[in-house]
Amino acid sequence: MTPVKVGLLGLGTVGGGTVKVLTRNAQEIMRRAGRGIEIVHASARDLSKPRICDTTGITLTQDPFEVVNNPDLQVIVELIGGTDQARDLVLRTIANGKHVVTANKALIAKHGNEIFAAARERGVMVAFEAAVAGGIPIIKAIREGLAGNRIEWLAGIINGTSNFILTEMRDDVQGCTSAAGGGKPGAAKGRDFADVLAEAQRLGYAEADPTFDVEGIDAAHKLTILASIAFGIPLQFDKAYTEGISRITLQDVGYAEELGYRIKHLGIARRTEEGIELRVHPTLIPHRRLIANVDGVMNAVLVKGDAVGPTLFYGAGAGAEPTASAVVADLVDVVRTLTADPENRVPHLAFQPDALSDLPILPMEKVETAYYLRMQAQDRPGVLADVTRILADQGISIEAMLQKAPANGGDDTVPVVILTHRIRERQMNEAIRRIEALGTMAGPVMRMRLEHLKG
Ligand code: HSE
Repeated sequence: MTPVKVGLLGLGTVGGGTVKVLTRNAQEIMRRAGRGIEIVHASARDLSKPRICDTTGITLTQDPFEVVNNPDLQVIVELIGGTDQARDLVLRTIANGKHVVTANKALIAKHGNEIFAAARERGVMVAFEAAVAGGIPIIKAIREGLAGNRIEWLAGIINGTSNFILTEMRDDVQGCTSAAGGGKPGAAKGRDFADVLAEAQRLGYAEADPTFDVEGIDAAHKLTILASIAFGIPLQFDKAYTEGISRITLQDVGYAEELGYRIKHLGIARRTEEGIELRVHPTLIPHRRLIANVDGVMNAVLVKGDAVGPTLFYGAGAGAEPTASAVVADLVDVVRTLTADPENRVPHLAFQPDALSDLPILPMEKVETAYYLRMQAQDRPGVLADVTRILADQGISIEAMLQKAPANGGDDTVPVVILTHRIRERQMNEAIRRIEALGTMAGPVMRMRLEHLKG
């Protein structure tokens, strides 16, 4: 059989990795797909840039629309990122009757509903395994491997850059004699935040706009996709609660460790009776959990199905070849099902499009979690009693409490750390508002959510 001709948009890290993997493993891929897969036309913004792959035999252009409109191609791989031009290119590809493989999480999270509807109409596939957790085949695992389950919840470390920064911070704290360390937000190993981020960029992990990593936006894109395929709901990125890691201090990292927890930046999606929780935020988790020990730039996703129980998927969440691994797997999938009746293919969002559920995404106020609170309180009688009374008034039960000695040469305030049992966010918001209004606190209360992630 003749090879399937593929067009590639973007010859950067992942594009280069895809060409390399397809070339190196050509024989193995043909044995799996039943046909060869050849990239014959590719676009890149700057054609003079050095590449990590050999582009011999590939027609190169600066115009991605030239690739998308090439009638010889059956599949287009979109690896340019962003949501504006990428959306136009993908919709044009679909209109041209070609299949799409993309690693673009922002595109799928924001425009996936429109794109999948267009693809269905035209009878083509849009494959997006590489959009979530790089090389970990988590889309396929949830959509197909766990299809017999009612998924109850999932929690993932789905941004390598944030995980790398948090890991550096913990290493820094553990290197200090005092676990409390300094209070400088985002500082790590004596390097400033910019240095740590620059290293993540050098490793090829950080987004073009690194605030997407640090402020949780990238993780929210990925969580939006995971929640849709786990629960069979439309993509609803705008309803995801998104909080990044920029407020976390070395103090918090140290106190969490002291209390037996580790801070991880998690994307959490949970099915409740009232609706779906969809939230990305720093989270304290018991340090003995496997996922608490996923360090550096690695990703991991914990999925709880009613039949299978908890399952953990771990691997590289970014990088040239790990992401290419997912892109190429999608290409193999597309090639295998080219001739299949479109109605019999695996649905884009795992559930039949007319069977998607309209379960609401819960506002954060209705979400229930345990909490870590840190406050800098005046060191005098009655201050803690006021705090615990406010918590009791809101029905908040304390699980653990830690009061530290005043810092040498500091003022007359002391750090107080409280862990609570589960409570609705609305009650916690009110408690924090009242604690901050006491007049005995120096600065705002630092709040982080805490999850036990019990199977
Ligand atoms: N910026 C992302 C990360 C890359 O740090 O995980 C993979 O999507």
